[in-house]
This record gives sequence, C-alpha cells and structure tokens, in this order.
Amino acid sequence: MSPSSSKIPYGGDYNPEQWPQEVWDEDHRLFTRAGIDTLTVGVFSWALTQPAEDTYDFTVLDRVLDRAAAEDRQVCLATGTAALPPWLAKRYPEVNRTDFEGRRHRYGQRHNFCPSSPAYRRLATEMASRLAERYADHPALLAWHINNEYGGTCYCDLCAAAFRDWLRDRYGTLDALNDAWWTTFWSHRYTSLEEIEPPSALTEHWRGPDHTAFQGITLDYFRFTTDALLGCFLAEKEVIRARDPVTPATTNFMGMFRPLDYHRWASHLDFASWDSYPPLDAPPPWAALAHDLMRGLKDGAPFWLMEQTPSTTASRDVNPLRRPGELRLATFQAIAHGADAALYFQLRASRGACEKYHGAVIGHAGRDDTRVYREVAALGAEVEQLGDASLGARTPARTALLFDWDSWWALEISDGPSRLVKYLDVVHPYYRAAREAGADVDVVAHTADLTPYDVVLAPALHMVRGDLATRLEAVAERGGTVLATFLSGRVDEHDRAFLADVPGLLAPLMGIRIDEWDSRQAEFAQPVPEIGSSGRLVFEIVQLRGAETIATYGTDFYAGTAAVTRNRYGQGEGWYVATALDQPGVDQVVRRVLARHGLIGPYADHEGLETATRVAPDGTRLRFLLNHTAEPVELTAHDTATDLLTGKRTEAGDPLTLDPRGVAVLRLQ
Ligand code: GLA
Ligand code: ZN
Repeated sequence: MSPSSSKIPYGGDYNPEQWPQEVWDEDHRLFTRAGIDTLTVGVFSWALTQPAEDTYDFTVLDRVLDRAAAEDRQVCLATGTAALPPWLAKRYPEVNRTDFEGRRHRYGQRHNFCPSSPAYRRLATEMASRLAERYADHPALLAWHINNEYGGTCYCDLCAAAFRDWLRDRYGTLDALNDAWWTTFWSHRYTSLEEIEPPSALTEHWRGPDHTAFQGITLDYFRFTTDALLGCFLAEKEVIRARDPVTPATTNFMGMFRPLDYHRWASHLDFASWDSYPPLDAPPPWAALAHDLMRGLKDGAPFWLMEQTPSTTASRDVNPLRRPGELRLATFQAIAHGADAALYFQLRASRGACEKYHGAVIGHAGRDDTRVYREVAALGAEVEQLGDASLGARTPARTALLFDWDSWWALEISDGPSRLVKYLDVVHPYYRAAREAGADVDVVAHTADLTPYDVVLAPALHMVRGDLATRLEAVAERGGTVLATFLSGRVDEHDRAFLADVPGLLAPLMGIRIDEWDSRQAEFAQPVPEIGSSGRLVFEIVQLRGAETIATYGTDFYAGTAAVTRNRYGQGEGWYVATALDQPGVDQVVRRVLARHGLIGPYADHEGLETATRVAPDGTRLRFLLNHTAEPVELTAHDTATDLLTGKRTEAGDPLTLDPRGVAVLRLQ
C-alpha cells in the first residue's frame, strides 16, 4: 500500500500555523509557481490541536487542510505526537525521559517522550484517533505521517519494567536468559527478573553507551528500545486504521540511524520514507547507500524522500550551502534509487527558535527571486515533466549488500579487537566500490531472499544467525559469489562466540580458519602488495583450508599469509578480506567479483559519474546518469535512448555530454 499519485509528489514540511493569513496567501502563490503540490502539515501542532487535556481544537488545522484542497494540493498529515505540549509534561512527569546517567529530564525540546509511559501512549493515540476521525475523508489527504523521526533511549523505571516484560516474552525462563547473556561471567546469575536493570551508566556501562560489561544485555536493550518505539508507532497506526482503512501511513526514518533497527519496523510501514541530511564530507555513494537501505525495507518498493534541505542545515557547527545544481543532483539521485516523492524541510523558514537559519524554499523575506527558490521551481517543472515515468519503478539489482543492525551494534559495543572499527566504515567502502563499478545494489536484511542475486556482499557481518549461513552457501552453490570481511561470522544472536574456528558458520564457505588477529593504531598501514593496497585497524591471520590466496600481508611475523582469499564452492566462490583495505584495494576486489558475473557497468571508468537503473511497472527501463563532478563529462552513449528531461534522442555510439552536476534520465529503447 503506497500513496497513489500521477506524478512525483513535490513539496515538503509546511507550518502555516506559525503565520498570519496573508502569509498563507503568499505561500500558496509561490507554491503554485514552484510546482509544489504536496504539503506535510501538523508535525509540531500538538500544543495547538490540544491546548489542554480536555480541550481539542482543530480550527487552524481545518483551515490548513481546506486551503490545501482548495488550491489542489495534497497533504501528508502528521499526527504531531513527536513534540509534547508543556501542560502534558507538567501533569505527567513520567513522559519525560530518564537519560543514560539516570537523570529524569524536565520539559523541553522534542523527540524525547518515554516510550513506556501510559500517559503518553494514551494521549498520543487519542490525538491520532481524533485526527483520523476528522480527516479520513478529507479531499487533500494523501498519506499519514505518524510522529516524527523516532529515536532515543529512556532508562526510567517504567522502561525497566517494560524491559523485564519484553525479556519474559523473549526468553520464557531465567535459565534461558542467563545462558544467553552468559551471566556466570562476573557472578551475574539472575534469580528473578526484578533484579534486572536497564544497561546504563549506573549499571553495566562505563565510558559511555558503547562500553558495556555484558554485550548481551546491552544488545537486548537496543532491541527492546526499537520495539518500544515501534509499539508507539503501532498504537497510533492501529487507531488510524480503525477510522481510515485506506490512506497509507509511514513515519520518517533517518537512513543509517544506529539506535533503531528499521528492519524490525519495515513490515509495519505501508511505505518507507526518510529524511536525507548526509554528513558534510560524505561522498555521493553515502546518500545512495541510505536510499538503497530505505528501498530495501519494503522489498525494493519505492520510498518517499520525506525531507532534505533545499540549501543549508542549521544544526551543525558549520552549515555549508548546497552549491548551484547540487539540490537538483541530490534529488535526481534519490529518484534514481527509488524515491517516488521529493519533499523538503522546509517550505517557509521559521522566524524564531533553533531552526530559523535552516534553509527553506521561501526565506524570511518571502521572495521568489532568490537562487534557492528559482532552483526549487526549476526542479518542480522537471519533476512535472517526468510525470509518472518513474513511479512504482523497481531496481533490477543482481548484487545484494547485507546490512544488519545487530551486527552494527555487536561490533561497536565489543571490547576487542579494536574500538576503531566502525560498522559503516566497513560497509560503505564495499557498497561504494560496487556502485562506482556501475552495479545496482539492493541493501537487504539478513533474512532477505538471496535467490535473485549473483553477488552477495557481507561486510562486517559480525553476527550470523538463523539459516543465513546455509542461504549464503546456496548462493555460491548455484554459481554466485559471496564476499565477507574481517570480523564476520564471530557471534551468535546473543553475542556469544561460536565454539568453532573463526569465521564460525561462514568457515566452510570461505575455506579458511583464523586463530589469531592483530590490531594496530589507525596510523599503521600494513602493505598488501599483490593488489598495491594496504590494510588497517585489524589483521586477521588466515590459514587456508581449501581457499587460495589472492593477496598477502607484506610485513611483520605474518608477512606472506593471506589477507584476501578466494574459495571455490559449488559452482561459485566465497571471498574473504581479512583486513580493512583502503578504498582502491576494496575497489579491486569488488570489481573482480562483479566482473565474474558481467556486472561492471558501461561507464564504470568515469570517475564521479553515477548510474542507476529503474524498471517501470510497464517494463520500461530508465537509466539515470548523474555527474557528481563540477566538470562536464563526455561519454559515448551505450544505449539508444530518449532523455526524459530534454526530449533528446541518442543512438548507441553517439557522443553524450553531461553538464557539470548534470543529470540525464534516459528511457532506453
Ligand atoms: C529533522 C526534522 C525536522 C527538522 C529537520 C532540520 O529531519 O524532522 O523537523 O528539524 O530535521 O534539519
Ligand atoms: Zn522510560
């Protein structure tokens, strides 16, 4: 179930409740000129719609929606439960979170309600229910936006009690729990659930949230938090569904956001959506990885780009502008990866408070002759022109990358072998290598069906559980290639080491055995001469058990032992990379794997040129070309195609030029 539209919804967060009526008139005039047809409203309206516990007032929201409908605009209606009104926190102090240090917070900010608070749950669902009752049949309603950017952790007594209930459901008996957490270590054997505390600075942790005496407990608290916030989402969704059986509901995710395992949420969303604010120095594949992760949530179904800034953020210490053309490029990159909506935060800048300098389509002066407004309007026209061409289109990927929150958590809360290894720093280079070689990549959960793929990349797959190892072996059996890296196959679902050779359940597929591993400071680089690369951080010492050596370590007592191996398995291969190779090293390994399956794209040698493919429901193939450089790119066209943005037709073999930061959306013939 996803919102139905005849073109890409274009618009964004809109908070007209902050402004007098004349400003609304002006807004709508400017929206029309910019091709803005979709407004996300009500995200922060709780204090307005419920000024006191027994008073609901939808007058302003009625006007916002009625006006949108009158202007032929559609609305993504938020339930507004992410920012508490002051009266609520005052009357029910339990809604304020208790932090990692054990401090009960007082009223302030947003996104900080206790997920286990009965008062919060009751009042938030009541609000969602009333909104659904009131607006289910409103002509402007396109989608439900439940809450906003769920996240964060609470350590209060209500959460402690809810955690104990969650543990009872999960383990059934204390024996099972003690065994899972390996509590005999340090005399932790629990004799009653009441003895269990949330893992915090007051209990199992030191030096912050990643240093825990019991990984099993901390892992379960991550999972519990994911489920507790999911419970809040589901409670709102359920009351909406009771009153509105048809309008699709989502909540806006944050891409590679460590605190919540979005895979546990995915089946409960009608469609996925997310807010893209890439780190400042992120290369283009970073945002692409997040898009592909979000697309992977619903088995490859398109998602919504719920927010991005049209120009600049405000929350960072330094907030650079998007250069001319960058917004357009980022938007088409999202569409290329499966976005079926392109929305901004925000349409008009807030006058006060901490986001007053956050970029907006319309700034404080209300002008329509700014560079940003002009770029937004020009893009609006292009999105209009694209029409329904990309709607519902799927990515025909033959490469999968396994992305696993449990592995992310387990790796980063582990004592040893190295605190310097960060999950995304391992995953991203492999994704990047595949994308820059021109392969479309599905980023999927460990439970995903792997049968559509020729290549499965499993970087830092620290935790292996269920039948995953068997399914990976099946990929190789039938001729595919599986690639794993250092620190893969180390622990079971409770973070207990396997009582077997490393890499545990992956050892047969990889044809190796690892008894020892070295780790060194970040500055130390270990040469890997055969591929002209070097490794860092962790150096697993690989013994061959059927695999062959592709590249070796160049120095130290393990010089000459394998750093990269390949094992023939069934009709296919298992590759293992035992250290954190530099990007050129990762590129070489990944390209060799992709080449075996003919998955290197036609423009793989053009640095900074990204390609992505989508197949529309009617079978039409779209190829997106995205020039991420500030220079023009000269290509020889690989296909006969028509550019949907310019109408220009190119025959295979013709010259094809992309402007600096230019984009082509080619409909292949
Ligand atoms: C998030 C929130 C928005 C806004 C933007 C600013 O994505 O959802 O309400 O605060 O950040 O970047
Ligand atoms: Zn709590």
